[in-house]
Amino acid sequence: MNFQQLIRQRESIRSYDTRPVENDKLHRILQAGHLAPSACNRQPWTLYLISKPENLKLMHQCYSGAWLYDAPHILLAAGQRNAAWTRKADGYNSLETDLTIAMDHMILAATAEGVGTCWIANFDPEKLKQSGLLKTDEIVFALTPLGYPAKETDSGKQKIRNDLSEMVVYL
Ligand SMILES: Cc1cc2nc3c(=O)[nH]c(=O)nc-3n(C[C@H](O)[C@H](O)[C@H](O)COP(=O)(O)O)c2cc1C
Repeated sequence: MNFQQLIRQRESIRSYDTRPVENDKLHRILQAGHLAPSACNRQPWTLYLISKPENLKLMHQCYSGAWLYDAPHILLAAGQRNAAWTRKADGYNSLETDLTIAMDHMILAATAEGVGTCWIANFDPEKLKQSGLLKTDEIVFALTPLGYPAKETDSGKQKIRNDLSEMVVYL
């Protein structure tokens, strides 16, 4: 699969088979996060791969969508604000950007392995804190299930997007 095929293939999967993903595939997905760029190469993240049933249960309490509950793994990048780079000029802190790039690398790597994902930002950050799975000062912007799609995905499906010509300005 070349890069253009990969980005067309990635889609939000909201129906999962309970079968665990093989360790070698999980390792390559984590490696993609490991190799992601970050501001000043600070790598301000911890990558959490949650697979133990008791911990998955805690994660389920953080999100209302029952479709998540069959996924055998949940993956997230968490980080501490002071571990990320801050721009002196205006105080911009790169944590969200760094974590998002790491997540996107892992999501695309999962797609390349035939493993389904779905960005989830609509979780309850307070409940995630209360789960006790992360360090108390760690911030999470998104998580994703990892697992094989329960149904055949339609990789040729046209993506619903605004017209490219409406979102590009050539100067
Ligand atoms: C930052 C972000 C947050 C998202 N949060 C959720 C979410 O909480 N729940 C969900 O079902 N989908 C979520 N999505 C998935 C989007 O709905 C989906 O990417 C979009 O509709 C395009 O569909 P596609 O991913 O299949 O191309 C999120 C996507 C992004 C990029």
